[in-house]
Amino acid sequence: MGPGDRVSATLRGFSLTLICLLLLPEPGPGLGLRLYPSRGDTRGTPQVDFQERYFEQILDHFNFESYGSSTFLQRFLVTEKFWKKGTGPIFFYTGNEADIWAFANNSNFILELAAVEEALVIFAEHRYYGKSLPFGDQSTRKGNTGLLTVEQALADFAVLIQTLKKEYEDVPVITFGGSYGGMLSAYMRMKYPNLVAGALAASAPVVSIAGIGNSSQFFRDVTTDFENHSPKCAQRVREAFRMIRDLYLEQAFDRIHQDMGTCTQPSNDSAITQLFEFARNAFTMISMMDYPYPTDFMGHFPANPVKVGCDRLLRAENPIQGLRALAGLLYNASGTEPCFDIYQLYQKCADPTGCGTGPSAEAWDYQACTEINLTFDSNNITDMFPEIPFTSDLREKYCFARWGVQPRKSWMLTNFGGNNLKAASNIIFSNGDLDPWAGGGIKTNLSSSLISLTIRGGAHHLDLRGSNPADPESVIEVRKLEAEYIHEWVKAGRRINF
Ligand SMILES: *[C@@H]1O[C@H](CO)[C@@H](O)[C@H](O)[C@H]1NC(C)=O
Ligand SMILES: *[C@@H]1O[C@H](CO)[C@@H](O)[C@H](O)[C@H]1NC(C)=O
Ligand SMILES: *[C@@H]1O[C@H](CO)[C@@H](O)[C@H](O)[C@H]1NC(C)=O
Ligand SMILES: *[C@@H]1O[C@H](CO)[C@@H](O)[C@H](O)[C@H]1NC(C)=O
Ligand SMILES: *[C@@H]1O[C@H](CO)[C@@H](O)[C@H](O)[C@H]1NC(C)=O
Ligand SMILES: *[C@@H]1O[C@H](CO)[C@@H](O)[C@H](O)[C@H]1NC(C)=O
Ligand SMILES: *[C@@H]1O[C@H](CO)[C@@H](O)[C@H](O)[C@H]1NC(C)=O
Repeated sequence: MGPGDRVSATLRGFSLTLICLLLLPEPGPGLGLRLYPSRGDTRGTPQVDFQERYFEQILDHFNFESYGSSTFLQRFLVTEKFWKKGTGPIFFYTGNEADIWAFANNSNFILELAAVEEALVIFAEHRYYGKSLPFGDQSTRKGNTGLLTVEQALADFAVLIQTLKKEYEDVPVITFGGSYGGMLSAYMRMKYPNLVAGALAASAPVVSIAGIGNSSQFFRDVTTDFENHSPKCAQRVREAFRMIRDLYLEQAFDRIHQDMGTCTQPSNDSAITQLFEFARNAFTMISMMDYPYPTDFMGHFPANPVKVGCDRLLRAENPIQGLRALAGLLYNASGTEPCFDIYQLYQKCADPTGCGTGPSAEAWDYQACTEINLTFDSNNITDMFPEIPFTSDLREKYCFARWGVQPRKSWMLTNFGGNNLKAASNIIFSNGDLDPWAGGGIKTNLSSSLISLTIRGGAHHLDLRGSNPADPESVIEVRKLEAEYIHEWVKAGRRINF
């Protein structure tokens, strides 16, 4: 079955912003190429018309009995806008834990580079997310989740790439991805070097998720973002949490409820922990999304939200009201929440950095309960948050109760190597120094083609976003290096292919 068999085209026209892309210089041999800022690209609007298509994908790549030849429809987006048939490469975004449009809308660097390299661009959705649901709206029901694994997702991408090479042209493929998608991008090059010439893995925590990180690293690095902005701000955060805890111990539940703006009075241990996790999650998201211009990715954030949050916190009458104002950046962006429903707005799951809400959150919870190890906790010593333990033991208990599964110890390390990647090649691991995920990624060059790049002043995969006048100098440099490596990989891949 070819991908052309099921077409549901949705044309989204934003071709005006394309004009500036036409001004891009030809890539020369010395590669002095520079990606010019595109105008008005601050809210994640795609610059091209993506066509939405569905591919009839194999349900179970690794078992010939269980589902026989059953298939499901995997969604992908495609644009031929920049493609030069015959020579242009394929740029392939390995979708992660959400609707694929969320990534297509926030990864304009890939399109800018596609214009330079004359690439065909694909954004492929991950199974169990968005519209790529193997069992429809029953996909995350207990018993239907067994086919939700990293290996199945990679095999989906491999089969799709193989098919695209047949339908379009057998040209070099470069994979791209951010965060979990960055991990998948790297793994595609590692596991399917026959199909993938090189990979950009942006903000990919391949080390920490394999269980060889430091469990206090994540929230320590969130804290560092706020401390570096202003020690006073971090101090005020500690004060706010201490005051809430003291009021709780004094049973002054109504004070907490009034100042923090919760819908109900937190009057028992589990409620106060819920409130702490709810509040901590605002800091996590604000530090991940600390971009220098407003964004609509995983929320609706203003430019420099760490600064904006700290300003709000320090301006407030008391620390708890300050915490409430800061949390409002994530939970009250619309300004229409009369009170915080801490159970609805933050749903506890196997990922202490938050799973979000809805069906995607359930699928991600399952992944965090099986292969992806996210046992981060806060301790009120190396970080500014209340002590909220999340040990392997607690994870196991939660996962068994929620999904009837047990995390498989060290499987990701065995299967993908953690930081022992010397046998691989042609992968860029990029990380922003503001990003709390950076500490769980590859921080050194492992070989001449396993490259680690640091973006100074960069939050979570800033490099994947489109060029913007507010970009720090460092991300401009990093994108340029990425473009050079990718250009070389495409050239080398072509030599082999023709
Ligand atoms: C992607 O952008 C389009 C156009 O701006 C918008 O309609 C759509 O809701 C966005 N999708 C996601 C998932 O962000
Ligand atoms: C998960 O990672 C932690 C380190 O952060 C490690 O101690 C633990 O053993 C890992 N759990 C599993 C099931 O591999
Ligand atoms: C983790 O990092 C903290 C500092 O943030 C340090 O105190 C602790 O010893 C480290 N733990 C391990 C197991 O390396
Ligand atoms: C954090 O630790 C400090 C110092 O031990 C303590 O006074 C404070 O109550 C703790 N904060 C919370 C929220 O537990
Ligand atoms: C704690 O309080 C919440 C309401 O704030 C309630 O839903 C929950 O059942 C309580 N839990 C316990 C263990 O009493
Ligand atoms: C949400 O924002 C509005 C407008 O600023 C404010 O009146 C309201 O109190 C906020 N809600 C909470 C829970 O803080
Ligand atoms: C890795 O190599 C690249 C290219 O030579 C260089 O720009 C980068 O700074 C190096 N990364 C590290 C972490 O040393």
